[in-house]
Amino acid sequence: MAKRVVLAYSGGLDTSVCVRWMIDNLGVEVIALAADVGQGGDWDAVTSRAKAAGAVEALVVDCREEFARDFCAPVLKANALYESQYPLVSALSRPVIVKHLVAAARAHGADGVAHGCTGKGNDQVRFEVSTAALAPDLEVLAPVRVWGMTREDCIAYADKHDIPITASKEKLYSIDDNLWGRAIECGEMEDPWAQPPDGVWEMTRRTATEPREVTVAFEQGVPVAVDGERLPMHTLVARMNEVVGPYGFGRLDMVENRRVGIKSRETYEAPGSLALMLAHKDLEGITLERDLQREKLRLEHRYAELVYDGLWFSPLKQALDAFVDASQAYVTGEVRLMLEPNRCYVVGRRSDYSLYDYGLATYDAADSFNHEHAEGFVRLWGLGVQTWAARQTQRNA
Ligand code: ARG
Repeated sequence: MAKRVVLAYSGGLDTSVCVRWMIDNLGVEVIALAADVGQGGDWDAVTSRAKAAGAVEALVVDCREEFARDFCAPVLKANALYESQYPLVSALSRPVIVKHLVAAARAHGADGVAHGCTGKGNDQVRFEVSTAALAPDLEVLAPVRVWGMTREDCIAYADKHDIPITASKEKLYSIDDNLWGRAIECGEMEDPWAQPPDGVWEMTRRTATEPREVTVAFEQGVPVAVDGERLPMHTLVARMNEVVGPYGFGRLDMVENRRVGIKSRETYEAPGSLALMLAHKDLEGITLERDLQREKLRLEHRYAELVYDGLWFSPLKQALDAFVDASQAYVTGEVRLMLEPNRCYVVGRRSDYSLYDYGLATYDAADSFNHEHAEGFVRLWGLGVQTWAARQTQRNA
């Protein structure tokens, strides 16, 4: 049984109660670790709450730069959207948090890590599978899965132990957010027919009315500048959220398949990441050779599934990263995005490595395409079907 654990601490009700509950019921020492993945927060309040709950140490790690560079960028290069829609917001932050839990466990001589996830979600899977991959020797504690307390019980428990929480009895939604987007679940949205109330949206509250253009520059598949201004990726993503969000673009409302077999109604807002993905995919259209582009498209779904299912650290994911990186060698150039209320769409793209050949494409006088070659090509292309039609179609009709 573990003696000292590092807890993934958010500062919310559940993880605050986790601190005290593990001390009292499991006899462990708790180190609380809060990871800044761009969700914003009063970190002083978070650390003092962890201490008040009984943590021997409360750490805050600023992961924003690493999160953008090592987690968001690969997913963007892979155009990874789970079930063709969800840009993996929460799925993406768990492995970076686990990296830091493990590092802190090593630094502070802990023999376990802990999380505050329930038994019904994907996040427990991601925390535990990532930990198994990075530190198979560490024990994982999941108190929320076993303590059998309701939300009211938790609030009473916090009161009793003088843990200063801000939660009210009526918690409307379960929210998880970071640089890459925001997930909002529960409340009235558990009825998949019910329209999400306006109040759930935060990053995509519509205030902009005037159309505007924004140009994104990429180097080898990674976004490096917005409207000519070079920015490190974590700042760039934040900028895109600020620019695109007020147009109300980037909202998702879907029923998705959780790893644990539950269909769940989810709403997300991810203005920056979805706009970047739109631009990135478009730039691939002009820079990727056809077969490479098609094969990549096929693998993108698989990539998204692996990340969603908690297999960020896995041999297949590593191998797919190598494929994706190789594919991005020439994905360098610029994309023009047009923003209008509720819309974001591509209006232009260019690249020094563009495979678009004006002479081949044009119908004007500059046409350099050899039309005569087409005749033989099309005849041979259709030869198999022609032979089939002559010999076999009668009996199949
Ligand atoms: N369904 C999404 C996912 O599995 C979002 C999870 C959000 N987590 C949360 N604690 N609200 O990635």
